[in-house]
Amino acid sequence: MRKASKVMLYGLCAALAAIAGCGGGSGEGLDANGRPIGEGDDPAGPMTAKFSSIQSHVFTPACTACHSGAAAPRGLRLDASNSFVMLVGVSSGGVPALKRVAPGDADNSYLIHKLEGHQAVGARMPLGGPYLDAQTIGLIRQWINNGAQK
Ligand code: HEC
Repeated sequence: MRKASKVMLYGLCAALAAIAGCGGGSGEGLDANGRPIGEGDDPAGPMTAKFSSIQSHVFTPACTACHSGAAAPRGLRLDASNSFVMLVGVSSGGVPALKRVAPGDADNSYLIHKLEGHQAVGARMPLGGPYLDAQTIGLIRQWINNGAQK
């Protein structure tokens, strides 16, 4: 439903652009969040709700100090080549009934419980802090609720 209306919106905009210059230079090259396309992957640019952006802004800088290699806690490696397959659709070690990331369901994703600090087992992440701010967690929630695409 959301996707369809977005497509319709873009279609409408494209049609209007031909007539009246819809966007007038302001919409072109921007993603659904109004941020420049591509910039989200750059750790120096703003974070977006895309997996690659979450990786470069959060997992790599804030998690891999612990979550990498053979000794990664709970076997969860969060480096760029392992994180997606170890998170999405994978049962957590702490609460096996919960997936680490349940596509479309951020509320029931253990990753979110750990980041927000209401996990049933163990500690809030990143262990020892500093913890992620609400906006950053919100983008991770958005990525999950949008289907947790790679
Ligand atoms: C200082 C080390 C350290 C850092 C940094 C750290 N973690 Fe952890 N993490 C642990 C330990 C130890 C555990 C196992 C105990 C527990 O669940 O609290 C764990 C467990 C987890 C689990 C539960 C896995 C499961 O299957 O039960 C998740 C999810 C997690 N971490 C995510 C993260 C994320 C995301 C980050 C970065 C934002 C992060 N961690 C940063 C040490 C760390």
